[in-house]
Amino acid sequence: MSLHINRAVAEARTNIALVKYWGKRNEALNLPAVGSISLTLDGLATRTEVRFDPSLAADTLNLNGTPAAGKPLTRVMRLLDLVRAASGRTGHAAVTSSNNFPTAAGLASSASAFAALALAATRAAGLSLDGAALSNLARRGSGSAARSIFGGFVEMKAGTQEDGGDSIAAPLATWDVRMVVGITGEGMKATLSTDGMRHTAETSPYYRAWVESHPADLAAGRAAIVHRDLQALGEVAERSCLSMHGSALAARPGILYWSGATVDAFHMIRALRSDGVGVWFTNDAGPHVKALCAPADAPRVEKALASVHGVVRTICCPPGAGAVVIEEGA
Ligand code: DP6
Repeated sequence: MSLHINRAVAEARTNIALVKYWGKRNEALNLPAVGSISLTLDGLATRTEVRFDPSLAADTLNLNGTPAAGKPLTRVMRLLDLVRAASGRTGHAAVTSSNNFPTAAGLASSASAFAALALAATRAAGLSLDGAALSNLARRGSGSAARSIFGGFVEMKAGTQEDGGDSIAAPLATWDVRMVVGITGEGMKATLSTDGMRHTAETSPYYRAWVESHPADLAAGRAAIVHRDLQALGEVAERSCLSMHGSALAARPGILYWSGATVDAFHMIRALRSDGVGVWFTNDAGPHVKALCAPADAPRVEKALASVHGVVRTICCPPGAGAVVIEEGA
């Protein structure tokens, strides 16, 4: 352990799951009930500075230029506590974090945020963790963050160990695809993923079927990535998305993340497919739609998605790299 470094800046990109994570096997350690497969995206990133400063009376958090308190600060403090315990460093830290995309768009992702925080905080504390250990730490902040440590296609293992030592992500491969993100208008107060998962597991009669059907989707996703088979990957992505939402929709009361624009975009994507374009949809705990396609088809997909009433903006993302240290020093 070295104590001379007390400041580090790291950047991580968000990721979109193609085979979804939904449900936990241990909430305290944030261990997922199912594995997942994602694509890290270029263009949607969080940059975070962590500065350990003995003169601070408490940890502080500045998010996109505004001091933050409450739940976001508590989640950051919990991760810092883990880093303090692992490094032996005492003292508080000032955390400054910003996204390179508008938070108001509702894409603000805990994935890029906790991956960047895990890397910046460990380096500022003088630790140099490998990818697996960083992924494990990022998972404590948010399950999807474990995947953003790595670039390209990434698989997160549900793991079986009680301490979560094997609940970590690892890179699978990288080949060129596009994820076209369709931002639908605001207006809906979404159920946070953590709450939605808990409610689904506790009340949905379809939750068990979701968990039981999941290993086959993971195997199909993995094989499609290894064989660079976009059609097979797209098909599993659509069915994993619909199965996840099916389990949530059947909760009591049901959780409905889609707006009218979400469903219209799904139909638009399927209509494009009937026209011969290789494009498949996925969607997460909110109304925005993501379309997976080949790079050559991205302009047509983007145009079609932008024409859906209620889609206010599109962003076309190639695969992105894993989390990186931007600066470190005293
Ligand atoms: C629908 O990673 O946000 O995006 O671990 O409780 O922080 P916590 O959940 P989070 O859940 C992501 C859910 C999802 C699917 C996915 O990304 O796999």
